[in-house]
This record gives sequence, structure tokens and C-alpha cells, in this order.
Amino acid sequence: MQIFKVGGAVRDRLLGLPVTDIDWVVVGATADEMLAKGYRPVGADFPVFLHPKTGEEYALARTERKSGRGYGGFTFHASPEVTLEEDLIRRDLTINAIAEDDLQNLTDPYHGQRDLEARILRHVSPAFAEDPLRVLRVARFAARYASLGFAVAPETLELMRQLSESGELQALTAERSWKEISRALMEDQPQVFIQVLRDCGALKVLMPEVDALFGVPQPEAHHPEIDTGLHTLSVLEQSALHKQPLTVRWACLLHDLGKGLTPEEEWPRHIAHEHTGLKLIKAVNERFKAPKDCQELALLVGKYHTHCHRALELKASTLLELLQSFDVYRRPQRFEEFIGACEMDARGRKGLEQRSYPQADYLRGAAQAAREVAVQPLLEKGFKGPELGEALKRERLKALKAYKDRASA
Ligand code: CTP
Repeated sequence: MQIFKVGGAVRDRLLGLPVTDIDWVVVGATADEMLAKGYRPVGADFPVFLHPKTGEEYALARTERKSGRGYGGFTFHASPEVTLEEDLIRRDLTINAIAEDDLQNLTDPYHGQRDLEARILRHVSPAFAEDPLRVLRVARFAARYASLGFAVAPETLELMRQLSESGELQALTAERSWKEISRALMEDQPQVFIQVLRDCGALKVLMPEVDALFGVPQPEAHHPEIDTGLHTLSVLEQSALHKQPLTVRWACLLHDLGKGLTPEEEWPRHIAHEHTGLKLIKAVNERFKAPKDCQELALLVGKYHTHCHRALELKASTLLELLQSFDVYRRPQRFEEFIGACEMDARGRKGLEQRSYPQADYLRGAAQAAREVAVQPLLEKGFKGPELGEALKRERLKALKAYKDRASA
């Protein structure tokens, strides 16, 4: 048997990037030979094994044939006769279809090195269409390597468009899609992921609520970029520049969905978009089974982002309601993420990227003031149960009034 390094490990080494995961392909072996050497099988009928010591993945060279719709619709053909070239041709991109032996000799039948040089993400063959998840993968690679100058080849974008129109994307499971989406959002240029999905028509299928924001105008005074879709891309871009966590990036992507529902005659204003958007945010959250912290933050940011922008003008009672809604006493981190997302929203506007955002520190101070109200003196006065809750609220309101007075002095 012959063993080659393949995929991301070869690609990233050639790009001079750090390599974390190594995938291997094994040519000329049977499953029984692998088992005899101590490799552990990954699944019953999947020709992939884990190395007994390193735990790295070793896949038997295989060809794949699609036998039906969706991810279940695969039959694998792995046998010692399958050649390295036959294995590489069914892979997604030419830059992922280069094999390397233990002397660092490369086998590159589909010119992956040429495409690495030319900074092109190009599919290897029509077999690309066998796995519709690749539409999301290519968009994710575009986001990851945008800063190196990579772009999707026109013929690959065309194939992605055909796949998006074919209805195949709907067959993807929430789990597989979320894995790609969450990884893509954590790349340096997550806005490129959304842009590429839009360019090939996949955004309309996966997240029509986000796609609908393109072409919707906002008032130029607050939004010099005018277009709500472009604004959303800029907010995402800012979230990566400011190294925000996944929760914040997800909330940034979804914060303005309500603007896609505004009747045209009301444009460019979007009255109550914070409320109309909530059902859309919920739908997208559920479609991809986003983790609970992502779902929660997206809904809270959707509902309250304009409160944050107006923080300095809010009455003490409204400030208190905001802090109570976030349960800042027990969930300080979530409130910090909310402030982060709102700051990204404020900066994700053309020409305003460097603006200051005093609302952030102002709200942090308000949360601190409310948090400093001690429970003990109220317990000593004999308050309990719901009365204690009310008394605490009154004390916090007093503290917030004092805070506001101090801030405006
Ligand atoms: N692959 C593919 N189609 C997929 C998934 C994987 O063709 N839907 C192939 C590609 O050749 C890829 C390799 O399997 O390079 C390994 O896949 P994976 O580990 O998911 O990705 P990497 O390319 O290693 O990239 P990453 O750095 O994102 O892990």
C-alpha cells in the first residue's frame, strides 16, 4: 500500500500557512489490511480509519457515486484498484486535490499548484456536484483566503449557481450547514462568505431573510452606504476586525432582518424593524439549529440594538428594563456581547468605521451601578419573595437615576 498526505495539509503547507489537521489517503489497500495494522474504523460502511497512535484520518482511495438526493444518497466504492488520480478527481477544489508522499513529492494531476499561484478556487470536475455542501465550503474558503487574493473561478461559480437552483441545498442537514456557517463566520473576512453565497444564488435558498436586505435603502444620514445588505456585510467585516466571538458575529448577520419586511412606500425608514425582525431571526436560528447562546444573542440584539444606540438618551426606567431583560446581574458576559454587536452595527457604516461609540462605556457603567445595589440591607429590612424583587428594582432605579445625573454633570 501507498500512503499520501492530501487536502488542507498539503494546500496550507504550499501556501506557507500553519497546518493543524492532516488527512491521508491510502492507495492499494483493503479494509481488512487496515484493521490488521491496528487502524480503527470510523463507521461501519465508511472507508475511513483512524491511526492507532496519532488519531489522524486515513481514507482508502475511493470513488463516490451519487445514488439519490441529499447526503444519505452516496455509495462509496473503495478497492485496492482505485488509483490516486481517481480519488483526487472526486474532490472539491483543485487546490485541495494535491497529494504528497513522504519525500514531499507532489502528485497534482488537476493543476492545484497552478491555481494556488493564480489564487483561484476552481472545482476539479463535474463530480463537485455530488456534494452540495461544497457550495458552502467554497464560500468559506473564499472568506478564509480573500486576504491572500483568492477568488472563485467563474465556471465554479456557475456550477454553484446550478446546484443552488437545483434544490439540492435544501437537502443539507442543519448540522452540516451550521458547521460550515459557523466556521466561515469565524474567518478573517466573513462578509466574503455571504457575498459569494449571494453571487451564486445560494443565499436566496439558505437565508432568504438576509438576501432580501440587498436593495433595501436606509436613511443616508445614518447610513451613508444606504443599502441594508451592504450595511450587513460591513457589520460582519467589523465584527471580524474587532475579533468578536461567534455569538456576536451571528447576531451581527441577523440584527436588521426586519428591514427586509418594510413596505416599499415607507422606505427609507424602518419603523419598528426591531420587532418585525424577531420572527425572521427565530426562523433562521431554528433552520440551522444554531447553538443556544447564538440564538439568544441574535434575538436580543435584534430587539434592543436601537436602545443601545440611544443609550445616552434613555430614561432611567428604560435603562432598568433593558438591564433586567438581559439579566445583567447573572449574565454579565451576554450583556458585554450585546454591546459588542451594537458597536459593530454602529461602525459597519460607510466612512464611520472609526467613529467613537460612547454608548458602550455608558451602558457598562449603568450595568455596574445597578449591580452594586446590595440585597443584604433589604433582607435586613424584612423584604422577601416578590416584595424583595420590587424593592430591589426601586433601589436599582434610584441608582440609575443617580448614575444618569453623574454622567450628565
Ligand atoms: N473534501 C471534498 N469535499 C467535501 C469535504 C472534503 O472534496 N465535501 C476533500 C477535499 O479534498 C479536502 C479534504 O477532503 O481538502 C479534507 O477535508 P476537510 O478536512 O473537511 O477540509 P480541509 O480541506 O482539510 O480544510 P480545512 O482547513 O477547512 O479543514
